[in-house]
Amino acid sequence: MSPLRKVKNILVTGGAGFIGSAFIRYLLLNVSSFQGTCINLDALTYAGNLANLLPCAKDPRYHFIQGSICDQKLVEKICKDHDIDTIIHFAAESHVDRSIEEPETFAQTNILGTLHLLEVVRKLPQIHFHHVSTDEVYGQLGQTGYFTEETAYSPNSPYSASKAASDHLVRAYAHTYNLSTCLSNCSNNYGPYQYPEKLIPLMILNAKEQKPLPVYGAGNNVRDWLFVEDHAEALYLLLFFGRKGETYNIGGDCEKKNIEVVESIVQLVAKESHQEVKELEKLITFVKDRPGHDLRYAIDCSKIKREIGWSAKHSFASGLKETVKWYLHQLDWLKSLQEKQKEEKALK
Ligand SMILES: NC(=O)c1ccc[n+]([C@@H]2O[C@H](COP(=O)([O-])OP(=O)(O)OC[C@H]3O[C@@H](n4cnc5c(N)ncnc54)[C@H](O)[C@@H]3O)[C@@H](O)[C@H]2O)c1
Repeated sequence: MSPLRKVKNILVTGGAGFIGSAFIRYLLLNVSSFQGTCINLDALTYAGNLANLLPCAKDPRYHFIQGSICDQKLVEKICKDHDIDTIIHFAAESHVDRSIEEPETFAQTNILGTLHLLEVVRKLPQIHFHHVSTDEVYGQLGQTGYFTEETAYSPNSPYSASKAASDHLVRAYAHTYNLSTCLSNCSNNYGPYQYPEKLIPLMILNAKEQKPLPVYGAGNNVRDWLFVEDHAEALYLLLFFGRKGETYNIGGDCEKKNIEVVESIVQLVAKESHQEVKELEKLITFVKDRPGHDLRYAIDCSKIKREIGWSAKHSFASGLKETVKWYLHQLDWLKSLQEKQKEEKALK
């Protein structure tokens, strides 16, 4: 299969976050043939952490710029100064619970931020734009069925609505201005370096410290889980082989109820940290459900498998084991996070 485009100088937005940093580590640590420049533009919100990039921070191909995607002039200058041919857009507010508390920030970053980036691409149409999005835009499923790329959008939270709006802007700009864009909608990611407000790292760290393990409702909500390095690989391949104007679903073919995920974490943490499973199980606490909590997401990712030849390499069992071990042993990373949280508190 021949690549559809040249990928030399890449602007990554939100590269200090969970998935953006996994993408940069993938690119710089695994792809020795990559001889271009990788610019990471990140505003370093509470979710951005430069410690996520320590393994490649000294790589001469890597440059970090602190700034916002809403600063259109800055983005344009970066694109011109570094002869950017590809933008991969991760920057976002990404936590559903926070979107319920403060929806406006989500509209600002996720919708307007994407609009500003698209405006830059409109001025510099030689740039290929890859938009990283979520399966949450499709709404929820009943007990059966799968989201395909043709499923109608039906977002249910301020987060998913803001992502849906950004997806529509990407489509509209591509259509109206004939830009080179590609979109991917991925299921729940997990793995090292995820901010511990999300289910899996929160449960691992709470179990380690014998704190309560809060599970929404009865824990019956179903999500499809994908190890973050598999997502990074899919995105890397899509930059070269994703067809202009197309959408690709990305998923792990791995549906789990939240309670099943928590029970697996309990088993693994107990084993790794020499605690009793029964004692950790007692920490599981069912709490009042999140408003509008979607019941089930499941993704049909046969298109990316068929067209690009990608499929997830990690099973849930192996990915979760690696993740649990990582959180239990990466004390320096946790320290960096705590220091950042302290600094942010002091500034408030
Ligand atoms: N986490 C998941 O399971 C998942 C699944 C599918 C899709 N996605 C999408 O993938 C992308 C990345 O998700 P994540 O989990 O890595 O998020 P994250 O919250 O870990 O990281 C977001 C990053 O964006 C940066 N950022 C926020 N506002 C910015 C701005 N105005 N300018 C520049 N940088 C800014 C933050 O500092 C942070 O580094 C998001 O677009 C999200 O919607 C996430």
